Amino acid sequence: MPEKKIIAVVGSTGAQGGGLVRAILNDKNGGFAVRALTRDVNSDKAKELAKLGAEVVAADVDDVDSLKRAFEGAYGAYCVTFYWAHFSPDRELENARAMAEAAKAAGVEHVIWSTLEDTRKLVPLSDNRMPTLMGEYKVPHFDAKGQAEQFFSDLGLPVTYLRTSFYWENFIGMGPKKGADSKLAITFPMGDKKLPGISAEDIGKCAYGIFKKGREYIGKTVGIAGGHLSGAEMAAAFTKALGQEVRYDDVSPEAFRAFGFPGADEMGNMFQFKRDFEQAYRGARSLDVSRSLNPDLQTFDQWLARNKSLIPIA
Ligand SMILES: NC(=O)c1ccc[n+]([C@@H]2O[C@H](COP(=O)([O-])OP(=O)(O)OC[C@H]3O[C@@H](n4cnc5c(N)ncnc54)[C@H](OP(=O)(O)O)[C@@H]3O)[C@@H](O)[C@H]2O)c1
Repeated sequence: MPEKKIIAVVGSTGAQGGGLVRAILNDKNGGFAVRALTRDVNSDKAKELAKLGAEVVAADVDDVDSLKRAFEGAYGAYCVTFYWAHFSPDRELENARAMAEAAKAAGVEHVIWSTLEDTRKLVPLSDNRMPTLMGEYKVPHFDAKGQAEQFFSDLGLPVTYLRTSFYWENFIGMGPKKGADSKLAITFPMGDKKLPGISAEDIGKCAYGIFKKGREYIGKTVGIAGGHLSGAEMAAAFTKALGQEVRYDDVSPEAFRAFGFPGADEMGNMFQFKRDFEQAYRGARSLDVSRSLNPDLQTFDQWLARNKSLIPIA
C-alpha cells in the first residue's frame, strides 16, 4: 500500500477545517491522511477528531515554530485565519505570514490559503461610498486575507487561493427576526442583488476536492459557493422551510452600519461591496466549479431542510 499523503489542517476543530478533516476521514481509500491542528489537544472537539482517526497535534497560528513542527512531513496544508476571534487585520496578516513561512520551511507540496478579495482594489481608500475602517481598510477581514496572498506567492509556494463565501450557518446565530409588526424578516443591505453563500461544511469538502486534483489548481485562484441568492429568494426559501412567512428587509448600507453590533460597520461595508460589485464577486464563485470539486454541494434549500431546527426564531 502506498503511504498516505498527510494534509495538515489549521482550524481543524472549526467550521472550514472541520469540514476538510471529515471529508478526508470519510474517504478511506482517497490516499490522504489528516493531521488536525488545534491549540488544545485535550479539548472535547480535538478528542472527537482523534477518535474519528485524525492525528491531532498542538499548534497556534500565533507561534510560527509550532506551525513549522506541525507542517513537518505534510504533503498539504490548509491555512485559515480567525478574524472574528480578535477583529485584527494586522494579526491576521501576521498569522498568514507565519503559515506561509512554516509551509516553506516544511517543504509542503500543496498549500490552500483560505482567502477573500482585497476590496481596496475596487474601492480605494479615497472612495467615500463607504467609510475607511481602522485607518487602512474598507472590509478589514477581506482586505487582510487578500493582501496576505502575497506572503504565499512571494515565497514561491505551490498554493491555491480559495475564495470562500458567506456561510449559511450565519443564520443559526442571526436567523429571521420579528419586526415591530411581529412578522419575521431577514435584513441585508443588498438591494435586489444576489449573495453567494455556502454551507461551511462544503468549504472543507471543496478544499478536499482541490487537494485530490493534484497539481491542477496550484497557482490558481478558485472561488466557491453553493448558491447565489437574492434577499427575496432567501426569504422565500425560509418561508417554505419554516412554514411561516419570512420577508426580506432591504436597508441601506448606512443603516446597516449603524445597527451597532460588534462588526456592524465592517459587515455593512462587506455587503455593500458584494452589492456594488455583484458581477465580479459572483463571477469569481462558479457553482459548476464548486460542484466539480464537491459533488455533494448543498443548495440553500437542502441546507435549510437539514438545519432549520437549529435556527432560533426570535
Ligand atoms: N462566517 C462567514 O460567513 C465566513 C465566510 C467566509 C470566510 N470566513 C472566515 O473564516 C475564518 C474563520 O474560519 P472558521 O469559520 O473555520 O473558524 P471557526 O469555526 O471559528 O474555528 C476556528 C477554530 O480555529 C481554532 N483557532 C482559533 N484561534 C487559533 C489560533 N490562534 N491558532 C490555531 N487555531 C486557532 C480553534 O480551534 P482550537 O480551539 O481547537 O485551537 C477553532 O475551533 C475567519 O477569518 C472568517 O473571516 C467566514
